[in-house]
Amino acid sequence: MSVNPEVLQQLTAQAIFNGNRNHDGGKDGETGNPIEVWRNAKAEYISYPKGRFYYGDGTFYDYDAGTRLIIMGNQVMDTCETPWCSDTVSLAFDQLIRDRKAPVRVLELGFGIGITGNRVIQKLVGRGRGEYRVVELNKDVYERSEKWKERWEKSFTGTSHEVPGTKPIIKIVLYNGEAGEVAKSLAERRKKFDIIISDTFPLRPEDRGINDLLYLPTLSEMLLPDGIFAFYPNVPGAEIGSEGQMIAQQYELLNPYFDEIMLRKSRLKTAPDYKYLWGKSGPLTMIPVAICKGLKV
Ligand SMILES: C[S@@+](CC[C@H](N)C(=O)[O-])C[C@H]1O[C@@H](n2cnc3c(N)ncnc32)[C@H](O)[C@@H]1O
Repeated sequence: MSVNPEVLQQLTAQAIFNGNRNHDGGKDGETGNPIEVWRNAKAEYISYPKGRFYYGDGTFYDYDAGTRLIIMGNQVMDTCETPWCSDTVSLAFDQLIRDRKAPVRVLELGFGIGITGNRVIQKLVGRGRGEYRVVELNKDVYERSEKWKERWEKSFTGTSHEVPGTKPIIKIVLYNGEAGEVAKSLAERRKKFDIIISDTFPLRPEDRGINDLLYLPTLSEMLLPDGIFAFYPNVPGAEIGSEGQMIAQQYELLNPYFDEIMLRKSRLKTAPDYKYLWGKSGPLTMIPVAICKGLKV
């Protein structure tokens, strides 16, 4: 795909307006409760071929074939974000101080395509044991996660990474519900987690950029004192977010809970019609990874 510089600015503005992840719950969301509308909306998974994106100056990059999750016309997740998922999970596990065999309990909010989930399970398999719980609001996506769980559980009959012939002991628990509500009920049951990863979706326009930080009061109750909290810090349309940084509002919400916020940059080869990941000069090739630690108790 080639984009000439004159239309680039126009396309960028339109991308930010349509915003794949920056939306208002869609047309139906304007008339109903956005949570209920999202819960029952049809989830579509589209595949696209690999290709080449040309900038106006003739430079280019090649992107892989991929899959995109679309709900109510919104581009919700895309396999081109796999590097972000991998980097986030790797950094979270790297920063967790645990014996390399100790079981790790992970909670994720928002299943999506299950890329982050795959990375978490791979890490747990490497350790030989652990627990992965995930909360998904959308019913269609949740049903896909059930099949995903079955596939993983079948694979556990093989060998673990560390000790050939050993079956990894990994518990996978799926919840079909709203992140805040499920988190509350888990906190009431005094569940504790080593790692919490939040990558949901702003169901209301005013939640854009902070949707993953709305449940911090409850999540902080469930995070072990030396646990790790990770979230999706990229903010569509916010120029600073697109440069691999966080926005001030995110710092304001995180600072009361954590002593340290680590930022890294994740490099992507964005499929060019994944308009959510567009900045001023075209598709973003870098988004921030954020890991929070040092829970203030
Ligand atoms: C960006 S995707 C998650 C991507 C995921 N990290 C992956 O690797 O594919 C966001 C997911 O969160 C779900 N979601 C959105 N709002 C939610 C909420 N309030 N509670 C639970 N799930 C939610 C969406 O249906 C979607 O499946």
